[in-house]
Amino acid sequence: MPSSNFSLFTMHIVFVFSLSMVPLMILACPINFGYVRNITWYDPSCFNASSIVSNESQCCHTIKSLFSLGLAQHLNVSSMFLLPDNNTSVSCLKDFQVELGSLEVPTHWVSTCLDSEYFVSSPSFCDRIESLDDWFSIVGKETLINSYCKDNLYHSNYRCSNCLTAIRSTLQNGLMLIN
Ligand SMILES: *[C@@H]1O[C@H](CO)[C@@H](O)[C@H](O)[C@H]1NC(C)=O
Ligand SMILES: *[C@@H]1O[C@H](CO)[C@@H](O)[C@H](O)[C@H]1NC(C)=O
Ligand SMILES: *[C@@H]1O[C@H](CO)[C@@H](O)[C@H](O)[C@H]1NC(C)=O
Ligand SMILES: *[C@@H]1O[C@H](CO)[C@@H](O)[C@H](O)[C@H]1NC(C)=O
Ligand SMILES: *[C@@H]1O[C@H](CO)[C@@H](O)[C@H](O)[C@H]1NC(C)=O
Ligand SMILES: *[C@@H]1O[C@H](CO)[C@@H](O)[C@H](O)[C@H]1NC(C)=O
Repeated sequence: MPSSNFSLFTMHIVFVFSLSMVPLMILACPINFGYVRNITWYDPSCFNASSIVSNESQCCHTIKSLFSLGLAQHLNVSSMFLLPDNNTSVSCLKDFQVELGSLEVPTHWVSTCLDSEYFVSSPSFCDRIESLDDWFSIVGKETLINSYCKDNLYHSNYRCSNCLTAIRSTLQNGLMLIN
C-alpha cells in the first residue's frame, strides 16, 4: 500500500472510531434551530457592540424568545416541555449558538442569556408539569391553545399573537385550577 493511501486509510479508521465515540460523550440536540435563519427577526441590541451584556438586556429577551420557538418545536415532536438531560441541553445551546453565529450575532449572548440547567426537564419545573399529558390532566384537552396554535405560526404574526394570548389565558386559568 503506498504511504499516502495508508495514511488516508488510517485517517478513515480514526474518523470512524471517533464517530463511534461521539454518542458516549455528546447527546445530540433533538431540535433543529434552522428556523433562526428562516424567520424574520431583528433586534439591533444583539448586534450593537455598545449594548450592556447582561442577562437582563433587551437582546436576552429576544434570544430567549427565539430559543423558546425551538422548545415549542420539541414539545410538538416529543410532547415534552423541556430537554431530557443537561448534556442534551448543552448541545442544544451549542447548536443554537452556531445558528446565531451564522447571522453574526456575537457569541457571548447565548452564554449570557441562557443557562443549560434551565431547560432540563424535572418534576420541579412548573408544578410537576413535564409532558403534554401532565398538562392536559390539569387544564383539560379543550383549551384555547388547541384552536389558536394549531396552524403554522411562522406564516403569520397575527396567528402567533393569537396563540400567545391563548397560552397566557390558559396558563392563568390552569394556575387558578392548581391553586
Ligand atoms: C429554512 O429554509 C430553507 C430554504 O427555504 C429550507 O430548506 C429549510 O428546511 C428551512 N429550515 C427550517 C428549520 O425551517
Ligand atoms: C448602541 O447602543 C448604545 C448604548 O446603549 C446606544 O447609545 C446607540 O444608539 C446604539 N446604536 C445603535 C445603532 O442602535
Ligand atoms: C440574571 O442573573 C442573576 C444572577 O445570576 C439572577 O439572580 C437573575 O435572576 C437573572 N435574571 C434573569 C432575568 O434571568
Ligand atoms: C405538531 O404539529 C403538527 C402540525 O402543526 C400537529 O398536527 C400535531 O398535532 C402537533 N403535535 C402535538 C403533540 O401537538
Ligand atoms: C451541565 O453541563 C455544563 C457543561 O458541561 C456544566 O458546566 C454544568 O455544570 C452542568 N450542569 C449540571 C447540573 O450538571
Ligand atoms: C455528559 O457529558 C460529560 C462531559 O461533557 C460526560 O463526562 C458525561 O458522561 C455525560 N453524561 C451523560 C449522561 O452522557
